[in-house]
Amino acid sequence: MALKIGNEIYPDHMAKFAQPKDFGSTHHWKTMDMYSTQYLELFQMMTSDLMAGIVREYLGPEAYLFNDQFVIKQPMEDYPFPWHFDNFYTSDPKGEFEGRYQAITTCWFLTPNNIDCGGLRFLALDKTSKKDFEIKDPNIENTETIDAQPGDVGIWTGNTLHSSEGNGSDFQRSIWLQVYSSIPLGKGWRSGYYDKQFLRNGEIAL
Ligand SMILES: [Fe+2]
Repeated sequence: MALKIGNEIYPDHMAKFAQPKDFGSTHHWKTMDMYSTQYLELFQMMTSDLMAGIVREYLGPEAYLFNDQFVIKQPMEDYPFPWHFDNFYTSDPKGEFEGRYQAITTCWFLTPNNIDCGGLRFLALDKTSKKDFEIKDPNIENTETIDAQPGDVGIWTGNTLHSSEGNGSDFQRSIWLQVYSSIPLGKGWRSGYYDKQFLRNGEIAL
């Protein structure tokens, strides 16, 4: 699930984006959706040859952009994120379970991600089981927190259950997420989300 790509995907100038901002969407000002619409260099990284290769491998030759999001946890900040599937936050929350599309989230770790700083944790599921989709309180004994460093990239499907705890460390924890799908999930879903085709016949279509 995790790739180690190193500085090829974590150029030094990413550091400025890993800092909290005084604006943002949702209930946390530190969380920002669609940041790549404001900074061309983020859009260029999200649509780079490197990311095209990852998306092509997981979704095939036809793929669309959907969203990107920064999530930043301050040192000692009680900012847990409950168990969820990323598909919950699309125009078709059950579509991947029911075979209408595939989606992936790619995660650039901008700081260390581990159990101490509220890192991402996962629970493996059988994606064909509707029962799994309805799990609200999974057995946390079966979870694993990713131990990642800046330059690592995590990849999971839209129907992969995951969560994170608050940051109990003295260090900021920052990630940048990009979401891609095999159909234009952003169409009709919260104005501003992408429905752009990213790959066509395996080539970057933008
Ligand atoms: Fe998520």
